[in-house]
Amino acid sequence: MAVKFYKQENQVPLEMHKVRVVQKLHLLPVQERLRAIQDAGNNTFLLQNKDIYMDMLTDSGVNGMSDLQTAAMSMADDSYAGSETFNRVKKAVKEVFGTDNVLPAHQGRACENILAEAYVKPGMVAIMNFHFTTTKAHITRLGGEVIEVVNRKGLLPQSDDPFKGDFDLDELKATIEKYGPEKVAFVRIEAGTNLIGGQPVSLENMLAVADICHKYGVKSVLDASLLQDNVYFMKTREAQCKYMSTKEIYHLLAAKCDIVYFSARKLGFARGGIITSVDPKYTNEMMEYIPLYEGFLTYGGMEVRSMEALAQGLYESLDMEYINQGPEFIAYLVKELYDYGVPVITPAGGLGAHLNCSEFVPDMPHDQYPAAAVGAALYIAGGIRGMERGTVSEQREPDGTERFAELELLRLAVPRRVYTLSQIKYVADRVKWVWDNRALIGGLRWTMEPKVLRFFFGRMKEIGHWQEDLVTKFKEDFGDSL
Ligand code: F0G
Repeated sequence: MAVKFYKQENQVPLEMHKVRVVQKLHLLPVQERLRAIQDAGNNTFLLQNKDIYMDMLTDSGVNGMSDLQTAAMSMADDSYAGSETFNRVKKAVKEVFGTDNVLPAHQGRACENILAEAYVKPGMVAIMNFHFTTTKAHITRLGGEVIEVVNRKGLLPQSDDPFKGDFDLDELKATIEKYGPEKVAFVRIEAGTNLIGGQPVSLENMLAVADICHKYGVKSVLDASLLQDNVYFMKTREAQCKYMSTKEIYHLLAAKCDIVYFSARKLGFARGGIITSVDPKYTNEMMEYIPLYEGFLTYGGMEVRSMEALAQGLYESLDMEYINQGPEFIAYLVKELYDYGVPVITPAGGLGAHLNCSEFVPDMPHDQYPAAAVGAALYIAGGIRGMERGTVSEQREPDGTERFAELELLRLAVPRRVYTLSQIKYVADRVKWVWDNRALIGGLRWTMEPKVLRFFFGRMKEIGHWQEDLVTKFKEDFGDSL
């Protein structure tokens, strides 16, 4: 919750929780940070936790659990079938979404696999505001095609539009008409649109999409993984939501969309995944795939203690004093960077802050991987681990040519309820230093490039010796300080 400080103009985000369990962190000296990133092949996925000070790789499965969540975990009722824990999950889903029909899966992408298995046939299309990597992979694996109809404003790196994740409604209608409703597997609304910077979709737009789907007889699916942040933005940026409760918004959306699914690694501060619907027709159509891929219908591949944490975490997803923490910390970080002139995606979204690396190192060719290079530089500068969301995260074309990403982003995720404001200030400080020293940053080249999912496993090397130069400059500026 942001509050006003005495004689200060801007509101300052305040943690509405206290920390009662702590985990030790390590901040290595800069020379060792250089060694660690080089040992990791300049790939932040390959760094070891023990070498990381700020882990901003993802907000997934790394959110802070509450006292009530850890207490609930001790009540877990372990049995293959008919566990009380599942009944508690169902009760929480009913409370939050107002839906009675619930299928469990082990995480978000498992829900996507079930959805795709049930509804995607070769030659079909799935229309969405924007793809997410795992969603697209499941759809294309089954011979389907993903079509994105995000409003053009969503792709502008800097903007003051409050809802950059909105669908272009005319394009949505035209796309359904072009393929014919029978060829549309479903329309997927991604709340808090991940790959364009955690940008929200307005309630008005989501409801309009659901109405269009209804009119054409096409299924509407809400990916609610990032809905918690999105609801915060609806309440703070959209006039009609200001006086609605968070629960009213969740309920309205679940009532209007045919199917809702989410990764509980994000929504619910826990782990796992859920598919739910008002109409049992949909869960019945998907049900058979759960025991096949996940586990029996009352656990779906989840561990029972995680399910208890998920049930309690869902209730907490309704609480504005919990859900405002992520977006307000991100807004603080984005403002610090923006005011300093660092190219960041604006407005601030959910999930994390996103550095626009095409502007950060504008002269670096795409095939030297600007976002990965800035990511390596930031780790050297501060032991901060971000995630490359640019060309390295794309896959080469079948003929081997490089497919350059539309946006070269370095994502700095802010796990919910985990870091304090002084840690966020530290991140801002080290990013500013990297920005001031951007002329030193050079490119990267592959030393080991896997054919698939290269961003997970691939290894790269600096071109020249810019990383040593960065370390020398760091020592000049910071002396003995870490
Ligand atoms: N949908 C969205 C919008 C996501 O952001 C994610 C995961 C998934 C589905 C898949 O869920 O990880 O539980 O299988 N996003 C993570 C991230 C991986 O780091 O952005 P999952």
